[in-house]
Amino acid sequence: KQTGLVTLDSGFVNTAATRSAITYIDGGKGILRYRGYPIEQIAQNSNFLETAWLLIYGELPSAGELEAFDKRIRKHTLLHEDMRRFFDVLPFNAHPMAVLASGVSAMAAYYQDSLNPNDPEQVETATIHLLAKLPVMAAYAHKKSVGQAFLYPDNSLGYVDNFLKLIFGTLAEPYEVDPVVSKALERLLMLHEDHEQNASTSTVRLVGSTEANLFASVSAGISALSGPLHGGANEAVLKMLGEIRASGESVEKFVERVKNKEQGVRLMGFGHRVYKNYDPRATLVKESADEVLAALGVKDDLLDIAKELEHIALNDDYFRERKLYPNVDFYTGVIYKAMGFPTSMFTVLFAVGRLPGWVAHWREMNADPTTKIGRPQQLYTGSPARDFPRR
Ligand code: CMC
Repeated sequence: KQTGLVTLDSGFVNTAATRSAITYIDGGKGILRYRGYPIEQIAQNSNFLETAWLLIYGELPSAGELEAFDKRIRKHTLLHEDMRRFFDVLPFNAHPMAVLASGVSAMAAYYQDSLNPNDPEQVETATIHLLAKLPVMAAYAHKKSVGQAFLYPDNSLGYVDNFLKLIFGTLAEPYEVDPVVSKALERLLMLHEDHEQNASTSTVRLVGSTEANLFASVSAGISALSGPLHGGANEAVLKMLGEIRASGESVEKFVERVKNKEQGVRLMGFGHRVYKNYDPRATLVKESADEVLAALGVKDDLLDIAKELEHIALNDDYFRERKLYPNVDFYTGVIYKAMGFPTSMFTVLFAVGRLPGWVAHWREMNADPTTKIGRPQQLYTGSPARDFPRR
């Protein structure tokens, strides 16, 4: 209700924009639950598509429901041929996040039978199109950047294996998915599936509140995710670690520069608006980092630098007083690198993981009869009324 009283809350630190039944976070205690289930139990027992169903439809699927969901998604992995060519005309050196956002935006042009937010069947089709095609488009964004041919999806494979083959397979040689990589990537994608009203999800909801279609809304979400303070942090962390190594500067010295706020330098992958404790996802990712690197036989001194940074920061008053802990992005990049992904693809992986959350929130917003168009107020700070010069 409009009260006539406008309050300023820059960054929405204290203002709830919606009610939501999808994800619960207690930032003080470091708790994260999807639909009531603790993230640790989900990571241990579920898989990507089952968790996607849980987020989108509210309850765990029966075995039959999950099988039908998986089958329907596999059936829709092919892109329209014109759309495949769309990825060919973008510049090879474009950032894959720009390519991905453009691809999802273009889906509204190619799949016009799925645009009506007031038609539940069309919303369902748009959901399936997105889940089926986002990994394919993410792979094409990569293939374009390395100058390799786009592969067709292999629908005999599961969601993550198909994605890995599209990324790393070539026309020249058969490609065998490494089960260690597949299992670890699936776990990482699951940990990213939702995180309540983060900047990209809030963007998806805001765009959707205008009754814009699901593709337009998700494309806006991908653009919001690309920023280094949000999903782009996983890429920024690896760059930071690489720069520390290349400069020969000690980790202590780097931390001093962060504390002195030298040229706005921040410890990327640290801090969170909601978590004032260890991000529970970061705990799980850190475990995976050690396991995956050992299983792949990779020794990476960037992981050592990351651990040293964490150790120093957690024992330093600057970080303690501000309750800054590692977030989900701190260790993911080291794992993605060990798997063979180039740095520019890290945020794209975040987007593939986050898609079910965006869809779940858009649908929750769209189905809620109390939803109003998102339209923040402002406190005007400009000139008072004045006369335009007569001419
Ligand atoms: N390194 C150094 N100082 C920091 C950091 C950091 N990473 N994060 C916050 N601070 C300081 C900040 O300078 C401020 O200090 P002071 O009170 O002296 O001015 C204080 O901590 C509070 O920071 P804030 O900027 O008001 O906090 P926020 O809630 O607005 O920002 C954040 C949250 C995640 C944007 C921020 O912590 C940050 O920039 N972190 C680095 C980027 C990052 O890792 N982002 C990924 C977030 S998690 C996954 C995702 O959302 O994609």
